[in-house]
Amino acid sequence: MPAEIPTPQPIRLGILLSGRGSNFLAIAESIRAGRLPGVEITIVISNVAEAPGIEAAAELGLPHAVLVSKGRKRAEHDADVVALLKEHKVDLVCLAGYMRLLSREFVAAFPHRILNIHPSLLPAFPGLDAQQQAFDYGVKVAGCTVHFVDEELDHGAILLQRTVPVLDSDDAHRLADRILAEEHIAYTEAIARVAGGEYEVRGRRYVRK
Ligand code: GAR
Repeated sequence: MPAEIPTPQPIRLGILLSGRGSNFLAIAESIRAGRLPGVEITIVISNVAEAPGIEAAAELGLPHAVLVSKGRKRAEHDADVVALLKEHKVDLVCLAGYMRLLSREFVAAFPHRILNIHPSLLPAFPGLDAQQQAFDYGVKVAGCTVHFVDEELDHGAILLQRTVPVLDSDDAHRLADRILAEEHIAYTEAIARVAGGEYEVRGRRYVRK
């Protein structure tokens, strides 16, 4: 009998979002178009009931759930989210406009297996309205960052960044639109890198092997 060739395990994504969901849709489109072989979305979770992103997940026929966080203790809400992710056997969590800090327990449940995207070149301009912050500061280069998630805001080890020039003709909205286009490319590339597995995280440094 020929030796059995091990087939690569699929990467099961859990997407967390709070709003529009364009990064989620960009990931879904990359999967559909064959740019992320072996990657599948197994659950989309929103912490906001009326998030357009969760409606989009329903329209795509993807498993989805709303776990409202408002008014709940972080530890309790996070425990429910982690349980649902585990139930769906998620092995990579992608925060896609998920506007909440994760508890230590959540981060520990998926070590180096939670990604976030942020619309600035971190460590500049963490937090809300990063594009407006960058525009108001007068930077000449802006961009986005995909990083591993820890318990601090927009903080963990950086996986990749993409830049855009800030033009004299920009306003914060035009700049945000151009950054968003780069976000959509960056998240797919970041997932592909994690799925490929040829890297290690040394302290704050993501290093390709
Ligand atoms: C994106 O610009 C994302 O980078 C940002 O929220 C937006 C969500 O848009 N995330 C953060 O600011 C995280 N600190 P989307 O819902 O269309 O993907």
